[in-house]
Amino acid sequence: MKKDFLSITDLSNEEVAHLIESAIYLKKHRYFNILENKTLVLIFEKPSLRTRVSFELAAKELGGNAIYLSPSEIGLGKREPIADVARVLSRYVDIIAARTFSHQTNIELAKWASVPVINALDDDEHPCQALADMLTILEHKGHFKGVTIAYIGDGNNVAASLMLAATALGANFRIAAPNGYNIRQELWEKGLEYADNNNCELVWTKDVKEAARGADVLYTDVWVSMGQEGESENKRRIFKDYQINEKLLRIYAPNAIIMHPLPAHYGDEIAKGFLNHTQSVVFDQAENRLHVQKAVLLHLLGALGMGLNT
Ligand code: CP
Ligand code: NVA
Repeated sequence: MKKDFLSITDLSNEEVAHLIESAIYLKKHRYFNILENKTLVLIFEKPSLRTRVSFELAAKELGGNAIYLSPSEIGLGKREPIADVARVLSRYVDIIAARTFSHQTNIELAKWASVPVINALDDDEHPCQALADMLTILEHKGHFKGVTIAYIGDGNNVAASLMLAATALGANFRIAAPNGYNIRQELWEKGLEYADNNNCELVWTKDVKEAARGADVLYTDVWVSMGQEGESENKRRIFKDYQINEKLLRIYAPNAIIMHPLPAHYGDEIAKGFLNHTQSVVFDQAENRLHVQKAVLLHLLGALGMGLNT
């Protein structure tokens, strides 16, 4: 049976840990020929810098090929039904990474494709980002047990995947978000189950200070995600106090690393210039996308371990 990676919940907790261990190895040993004659296709309904470049490079540095299809090129579900796109691509390529608006589009792609499908961000989750973030936390904190991640802001795709990956690995996760903007209930319940199994904390609060107090990681993401531009004015008003800044760091979490998936909206969720802070690790996060996505490609293609000492 082919495997897909649409959600962190598609992996067992052990697989999440194994992918991160494999990424550490792949960061040290960068070039291989394991994916010779294999092709990754990237289907993107939304713009991207990091995801596109890191996925293309990941395939190429493992000896494979990558083809990028931009939002205007295929018109998923518009020019052609999703089922047909999935079946056609499956005759050409070995693996698909898709950035879509609706999570349902990714589910539909995975249903019809006979090759693995990776969620390269949709409105529900951003699982590759979460793996890169957990690798970054491990590099800076040395372990997961007892580490507290405070996520300040919208309970969006990035928050959901990070919450799942954190609790899968036994790290504490707190989110400060206004009423009605916490992580989606179904995923939250999965996170509670992981937290229970792995003896860690999962907490939602409206209070930024309560979430940040004593945290090891201060994490934020945009208030207005791609596709939500129409809600911009309303969300900027609701979220105006949900910002990571010098005062929050200094008073509540002085030893925390500062994280953001990028792109950032300076002056909104993160104070102007704050990503240049000495405690910011945002460019490590961006780099680590490359290494974890290599592990994901190899895992889904059944090649993890082949010629690798992982
Ligand atoms: N963090 C992230 O996914 O960035 P892009 O939107 O540039 O791919
Ligand atoms: N939550 C953001 C993440 C961008 C990487 C979005 O979906 O636009």
